[in-house]
Amino acid sequence: MQQGNPKFTPDWRQWRNLFVHRRGRPRPDQFADEPQLASIPKSVARSLVVFQLGESRGGTIVEYSLRSPIAEIDACYAEAMELFVAEEHHHAELLACAVRMLGGELIRENWTAKLFVWGRRLIGLRLKVMVLLAAEVVGICYYHLLATKLPESRLKSLLEKLVDDELSHLDFHCSFLRTQTGSAWRRAIFVAAWRALSVAAAATVLVDHRHALRDLGIPARVAWRRWMSVSRHAEALACPRHDGRLGELRVG
Ligand SMILES: [Fe+2]
Ligand SMILES: [Fe+2]
Repeated sequence: MQQGNPKFTPDWRQWRNLFVHRRGRPRPDQFADEPQLASIPKSVARSLVVFQLGESRGGTIVEYSLRSPIAEIDACYAEAMELFVAEEHHHAELLACAVRMLGGELIRENWTAKLFVWGRRLIGLRLKVMVLLAAEVVGICYYHLLATKLPESRLKSLLEKLVDDELSHLDFHCSFLRTQTGSAWRRAIFVAAWRALSVAAAATVLVDHRHALRDLGIPARVAWRRWMSVSRHAEALACPRHDGRLGELRVG
């Protein structure tokens, strides 16, 4: 959706239309029991419940999008942002069903979810979007890693679908950030802030979800490499090199 144009002007109407198109997807009621998932460790449900909490938050960013003086966004961007938040809430509903199916219970608070909320409360739309982007990177890698370890099931399909959605969210946020990295000093600030943020986010999730990763036989170094790979891809999308080359995305 984007290639190296220094004066990048996204078509926010197109993004809004994409989210409108996806809005009608069916709401989950409950997943049927799947016997093939009986052996999935309980740590997976305890891990997914944290992501469920994270996906259920947000909303103030819509207000920020509406009130922002940033020239490169418009009413269509704010609408797209509102629809994006609704899509994340849809993910929360799906994950709630998945957690219940795995025998877990929903929670109201968690320290990593609190950290992301704190990050989203940082002043300014640019920083907020950067925190959202870090959450997308984490989600893309984590859902994908989990899906690769599950037998064929509705839960596996759900996680693969979430990865597809999060990839388009990543593109959406990078489109905005790319409009803000037009000069050398802005690019330098973005790269420094983004690298620090994405490393902190990946390290936090690695610690908080270590039991699920261990129980599923996913080495920490594998998860870390995936996170860093997708993080570099996001950086290249948000802040293209002068030669216009984009990083290779390697989720799997
Ligand atoms: Fe999501
Ligand atoms: Fe997302």
